[in-house]
Amino acid sequence: MKSLFSGIIILLLVSFSCFTSSEALTSNNENITIKWDLMTWTPDGYVAVVTAYNYQKQRSIPSPGWKMSWRWARQEVIWSMVGAKTTEQGDCSKYKGNIPKSCVRKPTVVDLLPGTPYNQQVANCCKGGVLKPDLASSFQITVGAAGTSNSTARMAVNFMFTAPKQVYICGPTKNVMPTKFITSDRRRTTSALMTWNITCVFYKAT
Ligand SMILES: *[C@@H]1O[C@H](CO)[C@@H](O)[C@H](O)[C@H]1NC(C)=O
Ligand SMILES: *[C@@H]1O[C@H](CO)[C@@H](O)[C@H](O)[C@H]1NC(C)=O
Ligand SMILES: *[C@@H]1O[C@H](CO)[C@@H](O)[C@H](O)[C@H]1NC(C)=O
Repeated sequence: MKSLFSGIIILLLVSFSCFTSSEALTSNNENITIKWDLMTWTPDGYVAVVTAYNYQKQRSIPSPGWKMSWRWARQEVIWSMVGAKTTEQGDCSKYKGNIPKSCVRKPTVVDLLPGTPYNQQVANCCKGGVLKPDLASSFQITVGAAGTSNSTARMAVNFMFTAPKQVYICGPTKNVMPTKFITSDRRRTTSALMTWNITCVFYKAT
């Protein structure tokens, strides 16, 4: 009788803790959203602006900052980046003459430091990966060997967002309504060609 009773207590405790952890992952809306806006097509791919928004009220990403990685759907390469850099070039031996910045299947990108020359910056870049609550961090990426239309470009998948002593879990890449931008004279709106969103949620501190 006594062991049945403690069994019930343990079951209750287990279901309680399951409830609270799934609660933390779902109904709490706090997240880091990565938005991938395709801005223009190029002869072999596209230029995108990638932005990470910190939608967490209390949690900052401290120095030495965030890292972002993903897996390409095919054999895409990174021709160039503005406002961030890749950590690894990988095997670009297929390329002669013009050599991509990165040919790895799973590139990792880090922010640039404050004080980066102005011609290597984009808006919201270059904070050494520090990302305070309610702020955003952006970089521009030129992707090659990618599709050159919205029926052939493939979404990057398996996103990972990492931060010092923080573990995040990212969901799938979603094709969403293209972002609308207002021109600086506020007269016109333009639109991204395609927009992909990835939502990452804080999982635990390490
Ligand atoms: C991410 O957080 C923002 C701000 O709280 C919220 O509006 C948005 O719905 C969240 N996204 C998801 C997928 O939960
Ligand atoms: C496909 O791209 C064209 C322009 O390149 C755009 O006008 C159209 O809305 C896009 N379609 C979708 C489904 O995103
Ligand atoms: C995609 O992310 C952006 C930036 O957080 C947000 O404004 C937009 O509503 C998101 N789209 C969808 C469909 O969640």
